[in-house]
Amino acid sequence: MRIGVLTAGGDAPGLNAAIRAIGQMAFRDGHELIGIANGWAGLAGAYAGRNLMPADIADIVGLGGTLLGTARYNLDSPPGGRDHVLAAIGEHFDALVAIGGDGTQRISHWLAERGAPVVGVPKTLDNDLLGTDYCIGFDSAVSLVAESLDRLHTTAASHHRVMVVETMGRATGWVAAMGGLAGGADLIIIPEFPLTMDEIIAHLVKRRSVGNAFSIVVIAEGINLETLGGVESGSVSSEGVGGVRLATRGVGQFLASRIDEHGGFDVRTTVLGHLQRGGSPTAYDRIWATRVGAAAYDAAIDGKFGMIPVVRGGDVELAPLITVAHGQRRVPRELYELCAVFF
Ligand code: F6P
Repeated sequence: MRIGVLTAGGDAPGLNAAIRAIGQMAFRDGHELIGIANGWAGLAGAYAGRNLMPADIADIVGLGGTLLGTARYNLDSPPGGRDHVLAAIGEHFDALVAIGGDGTQRISHWLAERGAPVVGVPKTLDNDLLGTDYCIGFDSAVSLVAESLDRLHTTAASHHRVMVVETMGRATGWVAAMGGLAGGADLIIIPEFPLTMDEIIAHLVKRRSVGNAFSIVVIAEGINLETLGGVESGSVSSEGVGGVRLATRGVGQFLASRIDEHGGFDVRTTVLGHLQRGGSPTAYDRIWATRVGAAAYDAAIDGKFGMIPVVRGGDVELAPLITVAHGQRRVPRELYELCAVFF
């Protein structure tokens, strides 16, 4: 069997562990593994597949990024990209494993509906795909946020400052909330439960009045600036294609300047940015990337196309691709309320 594999959308630590799992099992069973460069771009434009050898995937379980390369690529502009991909799959593969987030899996679903032998693997460090408790890259991002907050604590305490920390999180606040919980944040602001400037200032003033000389405020980059009294200057990019890039809106810096305007606080901002996506995956990410990668391989071999392995209740299950393709899994109120116990 010729098994193709691609990684699409933003990279995330753990992608290589998933590729390795698919590849090792394919080689064990005598199948071919074809790596496609740069996601859908490697099928929509000039064909960019190449046969991978066991040596290509040896020793990559702990390697960050993706050895295949990835891209944010719009298959609908110019039109015809999807049909090109459909034809390329028919020509080159008996099965294709597409590792990616909701945008990638919407395309996988579209292809599978037209008879393409596609299986998905859930990846987004935002961890907000519907229908799965885990997406590759999340634990590594949360660990980076927690470690950063630990570091910021010592300097915040020394200078009695308010430290605003901006994390990734396009539509939801999983990275901010769980990173903030693990790193002892004194306030967490996420799209699911936005706070007004009055509420934020009141919280900082109250903390100081009860003897807390410093505060660490974590804010997700996806916050609508209008909730902080700002103005949105255009439509925000979806899948990182078109529109305003989230990070360029500078929500962390904006919040810091609003706190500064209030007066009485010495404020600094840290934008964690792509540090959250870089580097080696945590053990947790390696393990789950291996488990969902292995389950995707099994599904491909069994001809269970149009499916994606998801994590539910500590186990891997197969779900139809449509389950993860539309909408986001939001941080539930009870979890945010738990975070707020420590504010
Ligand atoms: O969707 C995952 C994500 O990491 C978001 O949290 C972030 O807004 C975006 O990707 C950044 O994308 P890019 O690497 O294209 O700037």
